[in-house]
Amino acid sequence: MYSFPDRGGRELTLRPEGTAPVCRAYVEHGMFKLTKPVKLWYYAPMFRYERPQAGRYREHYQFGAEALGSDDPLVDAEVIAMLGQIYDELEIGDLTLAVNSMGDAECRPAYTELLRDFLAVHADELCGECRERTVLNPLRTFDCKVESCRAVLAGAPHLVDHLCDPCRRHFDTVLELLRKVGLDPVLDFRLVRGLDYYTRTTFEYQSNSLGFAQSTIGGGGRYDGLVELIGGPPTPGFGFGSGLERVTLVSGLEEQEDEGPLAYVVTFTEEARADAFALTQHLRRELLIDAECDLVARSAKAQLKQAGRSGAELAVLVGLDDVAAGEVRVRDLDNGDEEDVAVDELGDWFDDWLDDDGLDGHGHHHGNGNGNPLGGNGGGEAS
Ligand code: HAM
Repeated sequence: MYSFPDRGGRELTLRPEGTAPVCRAYVEHGMFKLTKPVKLWYYAPMFRYERPQAGRYREHYQFGAEALGSDDPLVDAEVIAMLGQIYDELEIGDLTLAVNSMGDAECRPAYTELLRDFLAVHADELCGECRERTVLNPLRTFDCKVESCRAVLAGAPHLVDHLCDPCRRHFDTVLELLRKVGLDPVLDFRLVRGLDYYTRTTFEYQSNSLGFAQSTIGGGGRYDGLVELIGGPPTPGFGFGSGLERVTLVSGLEEQEDEGPLAYVVTFTEEARADAFALTQHLRRELLIDAECDLVARSAKAQLKQAGRSGAELAVLVGLDDVAAGEVRVRDLDNGDEEDVAVDELGDWFDDWLDDDGLDGHGHHHGNGNGNPLGGNGGGEAS
């Protein structure tokens, strides 16, 4: 955990993950009264005091979902399948779905003893940390990356072989459901995960294309005892968390170019600057047109140049002598076509233009407001 004293000497810890906070909120806001399962999601920065390396940071962004109130294996399968679908839509290929079961309070204690005895016999072959883990938390030895430890653990008894009947049935059903929807879960006895609240199913999606150790782009599992531990009623839960930075590293989607505004408002006289400013606000707020105007007192010529450079498709020219009051001149920056348009009618004009333009690459949205921010004609809503 990322813990430190602040200037006032208070001990602070930055949030490391989202599951425990969600359970705390579930209890605090009485969500156990809601229809079950209660489905929640989050997207937030998380902090861990780890040694930074490729794909592992002290601050990362995590999106996650939690389903509380059902221990039905369908929930496990649904959440795992949903995350798989999210990765599909992000065009992330070449993933391994690793799964394991951590058992429950019924079967895990006996297994832990079994593992502890096994590790004690092999103490000489273990690293110092794993010798400590043997006493404190033997299951965590499966996490160890030291080669000699891994060799020992390969011969260790595995929890999946020591599940009680209800846990066995639960896990078998999860596997069956995942296969039924076309997923290919790979049993991984090392998948104990770094958090202590897990019971029964744990899972990870691991990328085979990342060329470094931090290949897990998302994972999670079941935590049937956590809500009660936090002070709520006995409530089973299942969820996942996925790191956005790692997802970005493997996503097949192109980074979105900054396309610039749709319209650039150009001012032709000093006096018209305030009008141009108001019109830009009107375009943004009433017509939902992505618009910009000059903010550094450029000449009209320099503004037109800037309009082109900004990527705008249209220039809206304000303050031209030969344009009637209450009108502006709109120039299509692609072909130079110009048209004088009443400010009152800009909403309709943009609608038509975007329709004719067919599929406009900008994906700009715009409303139908027709107010006139320049005042004068028509008495629009924004005047
Ligand atoms: P976690 O495996 O610790 O699980 O983190 C979830 C994901 O967050 C990881 O798979 C990884 O993509 C990303 N992540 C974690 N630490 C870092 C880091 N230092 N730098 C970059 N990315 C990172 C949890 O946090 C659980 N709360 C998941 C869960 C939800 N279990 C049940 N419900």
